[in-house]
Parts: sequence; C-alpha cells; structure tokens
Amino acid sequence: MNKDVVLLKEENTDSYIDFIVNVFDYEPNDQDIKKLIVKDKVLVILNQNKVIASLILEECFDAIKSKKYYRIGYFGVLKEYRRMGYANRLFEEVEEMVKENDIKYLELTSGNHRKAAHFFYQKNGFKVKDTTVFVKLY
Ligand SMILES: CC(C)(COP(=O)(O)OP(=O)(O)OC[C@H]1O[C@@H](n2cnc3c(N)ncnc32)[C@H](O)[C@@H]1OP(=O)(O)O)[C@@H](O)C(=O)NCCC(=O)NCCS
Repeated sequence: MNKDVVLLKEENTDSYIDFIVNVFDYEPNDQDIKKLIVKDKVLVILNQNKVIASLILEECFDAIKSKKYYRIGYFGVLKEYRRMGYANRLFEEVEEMVKENDIKYLELTSGNHRKAAHFFYQKNGFKVKDTTVFVKLY
C-alpha cells in the first residue's frame, strides 16, 4: 500500500476536488484550488493518481507572541480507506514539517459531530481549547 505523502500538484486538481466533494460534501472552484496550491501546503496521499487522504497546512504568524504556527484544514480520508493508518501517515509528515520550520503549535477547529476525528486528535496530543467560535455571515 502506497503511503507516500506528497504536495498536491496542479495535474491532480480534479481528483482533489472529487475528494473534497466526497468527504466534505462541498464543491470547490477549480481556480481557487490552483491558487491554494501556490499559497498553502496541500498534503495528499495518492492511490493511482487518485487523492485518498489529505489536509491543508496554512502557515500563520502570531506577531504578538512572535510564533509561527500551522492552521490545519480539510483533513480527511476517503471512507473506503479509513482505519488503515492514512491519517496517521499524514500527521507523521506534519510533525516533520513542524520540526523543520520552527512551528510552535498546530491549530484547527472541528464540528462536534466529527467523533472519529476527535479520537484521532486526542490520541495525537491535541487539547480542546476553551473557546467559542463566532461567525458573522455576509
Ligand atoms: C478522522 C479521519 C481523518 C481518520 O482517518 P483514518 O485514516 O481512518 O485514521 P487512521 O487509520 O490513521 O487512525 C489513526 C487513529 O485515529 C483514531 N481513530 C480513527 N478513526 C476512528 C474511529 N472511527 N473511532 C475511534 N478512533 C478512531 C484511532 O485512535 C486510530 O488509531 P488505531 O487505528 O490504532 O486505533 C477520518 O475518519 C475522516 O476522514 N473522517 C471524516 C472527515 C473528518 O471528520 N475530518 C476532520 C475534520 S475536523
């Protein structure tokens, strides 16, 4: 089983869009994904050119605390590939990048219904921050 983690390339944009539709039930725009690839790190695991696992790492800087951190987004694995260690593999790569890039912490938000992900985060040392997310829609 191939568990190589690579950065998403433009040639796999269509497969990445299928992946997002499949896991998050949301259809992103092709041009936005092409911009995303340039701006952020989109880590993927491919099976015969098909994206089967992925997460986005956005490098951020907290100027007040003078700390670099990664915000993690759209972390998921296709249903038929779950419980096979693909999420673990993605996070091994994240840990490497944390060390290489002097990152001080990882941050993400997650909906209450995402129970499997919460088990995963807790097993991997994440703590729940006592906070409430407010959103204002326009
Ligand atoms: C969360 C998710 C990414 C895990 O991916 P995965 O490849 O199945 O995870 P792994 O096989 O690498 O499992 C690693 C560990 O996570 C935990 N875990 C994963 N799925 C779990 C589940 N359904 N129940 C309990 N623990 C689970 C276990 O501790 C597991 O270790 P173990 O297999 O030794 O018990 C996957 O379930 C998913 O894509 N969910 C839908 C999308 C989502 O909710 N994303 C999070 C957005 S915030």
